[in-house]
Amino acid sequence: MTDIEHMLAGKKVFLIIAGGIAAYKSLDLIRRLQDQGATVRCCLTENGKQFVTPMAVSALSQGPVYTDQFSLKDESEMGHIELSRQSDILVVAPATANILARMAAGIADELATTLILATDKPVLVAPAMNVRMWLHAATQANVATLKSRGIAFVGPEDGAMACNEFGPGRLAEVPEIVKAIVGVVNPRRPLAGRHALVTSGPTVEPIDPVRFIANRSSGKQGHAIAAALAALGARVTLVSGPTGLADPAGVEVVRIETAKQMLAACEAALPADVAVCAAAVADWGVAAVAGQKLKKQVGDPPPTIALTANPDILATLSAPGPHRPRLVVGFAAETETVVAHAKAKRARKGCDWILANDVSAATGTFGGDRNQVTLISATGCDPWPALSKQAVAARLADLIAEALS
Ligand code: CTP
Repeated sequence: MTDIEHMLAGKKVFLIIAGGIAAYKSLDLIRRLQDQGATVRCCLTENGKQFVTPMAVSALSQGPVYTDQFSLKDESEMGHIELSRQSDILVVAPATANILARMAAGIADELATTLILATDKPVLVAPAMNVRMWLHAATQANVATLKSRGIAFVGPEDGAMACNEFGPGRLAEVPEIVKAIVGVVNPRRPLAGRHALVTSGPTVEPIDPVRFIANRSSGKQGHAIAAALAALGARVTLVSGPTGLADPAGVEVVRIETAKQMLAACEAALPADVAVCAAAVADWGVAAVAGQKLKKQVGDPPPTIALTANPDILATLSAPGPHRPRLVVGFAAETETVVAHAKAKRARKGCDWILANDVSAATGTFGGDRNQVTLISATGCDPWPALSKQAVAARLADLIAEALS
């Protein structure tokens, strides 16, 4: 924690403690924030009061604890709108599935949710819940909605939980939450003034008006990279094939379907300081796309579909020329001899860095939330540990910022 010592001096943190067993860790969070120089004011949700007492929170935070939306005393001293805006950041820790759902729906049914809705300050959420609740489609959709509105998240982490289950859902460690708060209130913007171009998702190649050839890319890694570059201050153009993902906050998204459209959108977005090609581009398109739906006649053999080579976007962006970005980064999705294939690909395509990843079915990389990559550059190979796709993106964005500085 020495790297962020006193990084919160003079900052006001408003901490909302929701009702989960991890609420006891919020007491430690209050102390660690004070160690960093922050003033902490707290609000307990109705359910939060079942896990920690207003007395304990008040004693630790050395101030009033807000719990009641209709407290005449609190409202006469400071209205809830003012209360929601006088801090530098609102932190919800722990954030339960329930409060995430209320936040996503814009419900203001108690003081905590009213403050979140009324604030004009950044909001950071540290979720903690049972693994099944976290992985439930409803929670994941709420998280995506909140992220697309610019709400920052820290965690949850994998681990053993109070309910004797194992998996994602554990509250992030207190030092990680402090670090995330520091990141939000003192954002580093080393990429301010830079333009980043990112490709993401699959491309889709039509056969006829109803059929197409596509691939398994979810776009999660590319979208995470776009968000990470924007978080460091870059202006980001994200050229994306069809995905089920929400647009990352603060990023300009250009939607395309085919590889040819992706190339045209990338060329239209130049000049850029950096290009990251994370899309899984179809290598071939259909040579003659049928204008009408192909019909089958009983007894006919299956049709043969002639393919034609698609443009290589990464190679095109890497080619020397006045608009070549200073740094071009590709991915190498491989299923065997990963590093050797990736090195050859870097040389063949002319990009500066390539992130090699194993996408064979057993790794669960395609569509999954984690990725294990090896960064290959002119100076060598750096295998990274298995990380969440967000963590891979953050690490790459930091390296890009360093390279462009
Ligand atoms: N790429 C691209 N345009 C293409 C094909 C790939 O921009 N037409 C980019 C991808 O975005 C990725 C890199 O090239 O950054 C490597 O993609 P990959 O699918 O691993 O390699 P391919 O070039 O398709 O080679 P192969 O299929 O032989 O592995």
